[in-house]
Amino acid sequence: MRMVDLIVKKRNGKELADEEIRFIIDGYTKGDIPDYQMSAFTMAVFFKGMNKRETLALTMAMAESGDMLDLSDIPGIKCDKHSTGGVGDKTSLSVIPLAASFGLITAKMSGRGLGHTGGTIDKLESFPGFKVEISGDDFIRQVKKLGIALVGQSADLAPADKKLYALRDVTGTVENLSLIASSIMSKKLAAGADLILLDVKTGSGAFMKTLEDSKALAREMVDIGNGAGRKTIATITDMDQPLGNAIGNALEVKEAIDALKGCAPKDYTELVYAFAEEFLLATEMAKDKESAHRMVEEKISSGAALDKMAEFIEAQGGNKEDVYHPENLPKAAHTAEILATADGYVSKIQCEEIGLCAMLLGGGRAKKEDVIDPAVGFILHKKKGDAVKAGESLATMHYNGDAFPEEVQKRFLEAYTISVEKPQLNPLIYEVIS
Ligand code: URA
Repeated sequence: MRMVDLIVKKRNGKELADEEIRFIIDGYTKGDIPDYQMSAFTMAVFFKGMNKRETLALTMAMAESGDMLDLSDIPGIKCDKHSTGGVGDKTSLSVIPLAASFGLITAKMSGRGLGHTGGTIDKLESFPGFKVEISGDDFIRQVKKLGIALVGQSADLAPADKKLYALRDVTGTVENLSLIASSIMSKKLAAGADLILLDVKTGSGAFMKTLEDSKALAREMVDIGNGAGRKTIATITDMDQPLGNAIGNALEVKEAIDALKGCAPKDYTELVYAFAEEFLLATEMAKDKESAHRMVEEKISSGAALDKMAEFIEAQGGNKEDVYHPENLPKAAHTAEILATADGYVSKIQCEEIGLCAMLLGGGRAKKEDVIDPAVGFILHKKKGDAVKAGESLATMHYNGDAFPEEVQKRFLEAYTISVEKPQLNPLIYEVIS
């Protein structure tokens, strides 16, 4: 087989056989196929697409390009939760310990953030000492002992995706349904979970800006997961404004802890409950939504979910006292209020722009090598639909450094639209696809 023939075949809109897809992924992982041919190939896929069979073959080839974690000798159902990414989306931080407090086995592989979206790993690294570079063996040992572990994307798990995602990032080939779905699902399959819960975000702060595209991505990933023999459920949720009030790594960790204490903002709390309930229903630990809801309430009010988070943080090198005293987490040297300039209602928040503002403060990465400042970010005081008066604070900005981040403040303010009319609010959860 020759790579050039396969590029031409896809460029001409033809279907590739499973062995041809395997040849491409194996050759690229080993370094036999150079970046320039792979770039041409991904661009051909970008324009001509892949059908479901090809997408599944691509996912399996990438998942099997490195170690496939075998969790089969750990008793119980192994669960994973994944979000396609958004602004203020710290849901995994609360849901994973919550699910583990029920005895569900949560074994999760997470990524770092790039651009306007934050990554779960970056958030967890706000706990001084927290480590995600753990070997496959240590990961399995911790899952067996505690029922919960989180690992970064190491060189051993889905290395083809690691290489390919970095290439797509710089060749304008990220936003393709088959490529996104196979990229996410290859990592999920390699990490070994039996039950995969996907949160597909939709709206101005999401990868997929329209509900239609988000639904198509959710369907594609559910079909891949189920096709690979893993029970997969996708929830489509709103990302037309930031989730919760906190944006920025340590600030988000505090809000995630608040959820486990029962005192987080309403939208964030609703989503944490929804995912924990979904786990309880999918594993048949709860017979219906009402009993699932009561079970979640009990784990939060008894402190069991918070204790599980503390155990988890300690097992991976952090200090469990930081979970009980999040005021000890990194804090920015300065705060400033961002004031509304008109009376009315918040009618729109350009969500991606708010994420970029947090990145510009140092809370995210413009390039992969950038170092994150865990302390900076925003606490929102006004969200979509809220009434506001000129001079009232829309948000508190947390920043470091001697210079006042005037440009960030200006961009943040411009990302808010204040109108006379109260806007219609989007649903938080659009649909569950299984
Ligand atoms: N996240 C991933 O892991 N891969 C993509 O292609 C897009 C988002």
